[in-house]
Amino acid sequence: MTVKTLHIIGCGKVGRTLARLWHEAGLFSINGIVNRTENSAAKAVSFIGAGRAIATISALPPADLVMIASGDDQIESLCSELAKTHSLDKTTVFHCSGALSSSILKSAKQSGALTASLHPVKSFADTADSVKTFAGTYCGMEGDKEALAILEQALHKCGAKTFAISPQQKILYHAANVLICNDLTALMEIGFQCYERAGIPREFAVEITKPMVAETIHNIQTKGTACALTGSVARGDMQTFESHLQALKDWDSTYAGIYEQLGKIAMDLAQQQKRMAA
Ligand SMILES: NC(=O)c1ccc[n+]([C@@H]2O[C@H](COP(=O)([O-])OP(=O)(O)OC[C@H]3O[C@@H](n4cnc5c(N)ncnc54)[C@H](OP(=O)(O)O)[C@@H]3O)[C@@H](O)[C@H]2O)c1
Repeated sequence: MTVKTLHIIGCGKVGRTLARLWHEAGLFSINGIVNRTENSAAKAVSFIGAGRAIATISALPPADLVMIASGDDQIESLCSELAKTHSLDKTTVFHCSGALSSSILKSAKQSGALTASLHPVKSFADTADSVKTFAGTYCGMEGDKEALAILEQALHKCGAKTFAISPQQKILYHAANVLICNDLTALMEIGFQCYERAGIPREFAVEITKPMVAETIHNIQTKGTACALTGSVARGDMQTFESHLQALKDWDSTYAGIYEQLGKIAMDLAQQQKRMAA
């Protein structure tokens, strides 16, 4: 069976990770890579170990699949450029955004393509690490059946797991990813700033919180959020809660607002915990 050819338009963290895995597993033959600059495309080629940097979308030869792994805001216009310059009959065109559905690729569909979206539920902070840790990643998928069959097989062979997501609900699905991954990072940043203000250097703060962070995540994943909740709100120590709030108000009103709003969610969880224990 001939190996299908794959172009990548927008080959950053996600594009490089998937292309390297697929190349190493011999699943796709990596062909053209188009980035904003040819220099960046050449770096992607070097990381993947295959493909060739191509200056413009119009210069791409025909291929079986095209992955658009640019930032979300560029996907529609890059797809339109592809559709304007190519006949896409039976080509599979897909993107990796969690926020957008495959309907953003309508210009390709009108030109005969099969379209899909593939969203890895993973934080691609470091590309070399992402290649090593990709197996076991869950990928949310939607789109044309034939396109999904090809992509699911390629993902499963790299050890990933796939699940269906509703194209209509993708934006809420993606907001959930952001809250649990990106906003958790932002929340921990506030926590580390608090430690620093209390005289504990950041590196030591990162160190001393490691067991507590791991325990919290473990408890959430094994017992659920209501049972995992500990601390002053869970105990009903509301004077302590008010003292935290005042100390934060004296320092930073935005952080105080976040603490207060999260405290309300924690109070709801504490009520649930009490009901479960009764
Ligand atoms: N990062 C994550 O953790 C993550 C997780 C799941 C899904 N995703 C999704 O995956 C997609 C890619 O994200 P990413 O984090 O990999 O982004 P990224 O690292 O910023 O890479 C984006 C790539 O797109 C290229 N690009 C931007 N505008 C372009 C244009 N006009 N023409 C050609 N290439 C262009 C950039 O080229 P240059 O290098 O030349 O600037 C860059 O290589 C997004 O849809 C994102 O929502 C990301």
